Amino acid sequence: MKLSPMKNALAIDLGTDYTRIYYKGEVTIESSVIAYDSQSGKIVAIGKEAAEMEGKNPPLITVSRPLVNGVITDFDLALQMVQGFLANIVGNVVKPRVFITVPCGVTEVERRAICDILHESEITEIYIIESPIAAAIGAGCDVNLARGMLLVDLGGGKCDIAAISLGQAIIGRSVKIAGNDFTDALIDYISEKHSLSVGTVSAEKLKKSIGCAFMREHNDIDEISGFNTHLKKPEKIAVRSEDTREAFAPLISKIAAEIKATLDEIPTELLGDIIDDGILLTGGGAQLYGMAKRLRGELGMKVFLAEDAEMCVIKGASYVAENMDKLSGNTYIFTKA
Ligand SMILES: Nc1ncnc2c1ncn2[C@@H]1O[C@H](COP(=O)(O)OP(=O)(O)OP(=O)(O)O)[C@@H](O)[C@H]1O
Ligand SMILES: [Mg+2]
Repeated sequence: MKLSPMKNALAIDLGTDYTRIYYKGEVTIESSVIAYDSQSGKIVAIGKEAAEMEGKNPPLITVSRPLVNGVITDFDLALQMVQGFLANIVGNVVKPRVFITVPCGVTEVERRAICDILHESEITEIYIIESPIAAAIGAGCDVNLARGMLLVDLGGGKCDIAAISLGQAIIGRSVKIAGNDFTDALIDYISEKHSLSVGTVSAEKLKKSIGCAFMREHNDIDEISGFNTHLKKPEKIAVRSEDTREAFAPLISKIAAEIKATLDEIPTELLGDIIDDGILLTGGGAQLYGMAKRLRGELGMKVFLAEDAEMCVIKGASYVAENMDKLSGNTYIFTKA
């Protein structure tokens, strides 16, 4: 999708793990993390720099993630984090209009919190797009058609499942199972099977290198270091991709059950389209090896992984931000806050 950075529109995907901001044709990706002095409250670092401190911080510095399962849980920290990102990316100029994405079915309070952050940042023209709609547009789909599609955006903290037709999510739910639960499942599995306590960063690396939802062609092996809680000493062990498949199985079944429950609520005409076209997966968590293939098996339906899956939401929001004038009038894709 070619964007024409003409109008300096801004698009923001405020995610549990990453904040992606589009401005003047560029997407900046920052970790949704903020570090502050525990006594004075003074901000020490934001974004990637703050994420690098996680788990390594002295007691005088608190490292925090202001979003949980896709929604803001600490307004003040989220505000300072977003304002810091905007200052770095946009600077002190008058802020242009902003398109911001929200998970499916957020409450009025959660939606207001997101808008208040932008209002406090002196942005007055705010438009809201639901994440699955943005994801579908970012994956190259024409969401304005009178044709049903099912999109599953599996991020780090939440999984949005939405049936879309005529630019709107007809049925949508945001489920609290996502990529970070897969990392936690791996940590628990290694602790139970090997009595090894491992950190989140190492487990996430292992998940990406050999983790799988469906059997890999080769049963790949990678090593992970941690602390053996029985032997009371540091240890390095080898983990096979097959082990990870076992660790992830219950989570994948839960996601499949949520998709089935959503399918169950979809009007028959739309369901016919979805059965013909299949389900589209986006989000970083969907990039786990074999996720689409495994869900295909669980659901008995076609399931596809979008290209550049973790960037679909911001790509879609940027497209709408840059093409708002062409899109407005007869679309439900976005609403003015
Ligand atoms: N290749 C990969 N294999 C497995 N997991 C991956 C891979 N790449 C990214 N992830 C996982 O994707 C998740 C982050 O996805 P994403 O960037 O879409 O989340 P987010 O938008 O910040 O969160 P959310 O949308 O849930 O609020 C993390 O859990 C990360 O470990
Ligand atoms: Mg996301």
